[in-house]
Amino acid sequence: MTDPHLWWYVSRSAAIVAWTLLTLTTLWGILLSTRVLRVADNPAWLRTLHAHLSGIALLMTFIHVGSLLLDPYLRSQGFGIAAALVPLSSHYAPLPLSLGIVALYLMAAVGLSSLAMRLLPRRLWKGLHFASYAIVVLVAFHAATAGTDTGTGWYISLSTAVIVATAMAVIVRQFVGSAAAQRRRSAAKTRQSAVRERIPVRVAALRQRAEDVRGVRLVPLTDDPLPPWTPGAHITVHLPNGLERRYSLCGDPAERHSYDIAVARSPDSAGGSRFIHDWLVAGQMLEIDPPRNNFPLDAAPDYLFVAGGIGITPIMAMIASLPASRNWELLYIGRTRSRMAFAESLAARYPGRVTIYARDEHTERLPVADLAAHSTAQVYACGPAGLLDALAAVVPAGRLHLERFVPVDRRAGLRPSPVQVELAGVGSFRVPANRSILDVLEAAGAPIAGSCREGVCGACELRVLDGTPLHLDSVLGDAEKDAARVMYPCVSRSVTDRLVVDLVD
Ligand code: FES
Repeated sequence: MTDPHLWWYVSRSAAIVAWTLLTLTTLWGILLSTRVLRVADNPAWLRTLHAHLSGIALLMTFIHVGSLLLDPYLRSQGFGIAAALVPLSSHYAPLPLSLGIVALYLMAAVGLSSLAMRLLPRRLWKGLHFASYAIVVLVAFHAATAGTDTGTGWYISLSTAVIVATAMAVIVRQFVGSAAAQRRRSAAKTRQSAVRERIPVRVAALRQRAEDVRGVRLVPLTDDPLPPWTPGAHITVHLPNGLERRYSLCGDPAERHSYDIAVARSPDSAGGSRFIHDWLVAGQMLEIDPPRNNFPLDAAPDYLFVAGGIGITPIMAMIASLPASRNWELLYIGRTRSRMAFAESLAARYPGRVTIYARDEHTERLPVADLAAHSTAQVYACGPAGLLDALAAVVPAGRLHLERFVPVDRRAGLRPSPVQVELAGVGSFRVPANRSILDVLEAAGAPIAGSCREGVCGACELRVLDGTPLHLDSVLGDAEKDAARVMYPCVSRSVTDRLVVDLVD
């Protein structure tokens, strides 16, 4: 025989589970939004769990209401659909029931808005989500006053636990959340000022390093040391003619009071290398950006360095940084020996390790790609696009590290689609197909700075918190970017409809 209290049991159990889950998911959502759980950069499963807890809480609430309507005792007392769904229409505890009914509608609205999150303006979705606080309060009052067992010991214990958890959520939101937001704002400000902060330097010396290669030594204007750098790093030089150019540092990283660069005269110069060769004089003031490294040298047992022309500059610093016991070999290729900067000094200093290959001295080409493909060493290469493309075609990506002067066109045949980009702590932005993510973020006032705007310098780097970027840049290998969870928004887009990104510290 069926227990006459069956629906009462179902109703009470569902209500308690719903109340507990609602509190948990609200607390969980607060921890997510305030990034207390951001140690792992909010992986997707954290939000999935939040969504599932909310969904089950809503389902349990429907079961709670449905079982009340099925309860024969309540039905005999005139409790029907109107009493269950219309506020203030019940004879029994009209106010407590009304609180529960309003909470139910709000829960449904929050749930539906979350399902339609991608269709709704971010502000509307967020505003509706804030209703969760009201829901928790309404449910707490409803649950504490509407039940027939509200005075029992176990019920009071459970109520106390849930209300304490709710109070904790509010405390977390108010104190930890606002502290985290404050930290984000001040970090953004710091980054913004760092982005804008250029370093004034003076040209201390100019030296011809080879035919059409001019060495430039830059020193600070004060006694303060220059920012530290690591082999493979470059600086952006802001020239007086308004151009900005990136040059690899080729000196000694331990020397903190000067930066050395070497600049090849480009036959197609748009004014950068021509200015440095024809107009730059000792004593002239310039501005530079702090060094950044998109071509870092990782620890490995063996290295094969491949330099084409002026691509020798970052390799110089790498070689100088290696301990004498480390195995390495350099293939240095150029048109003529007279145009190959540092060739003689490298060959003299590292006999047996350096192959200088001046093309005008040979009838056959050096099979660089084959040598690299058959080596087991980590290959670090910098030089013209043809050389780097040949290496990329045969050397496995895990062994190949490239620094490009000019970007690879990876957009051929691609039809960009709009993407919703959320920049943590700043806002959410719709990026149309015909604009870059960087353009839209800059226009919105985000503290992010582009430089080359063609995906080679790495200045616009963003951290990817959620979503899958479509890498179209020429900075680092795609696997390296995915492993580091970074992207370059001046050219790259998104595979997913939505990307959540953050500025890089
Ligand atoms: S601005 Fe240079 S990589 Fe984006």
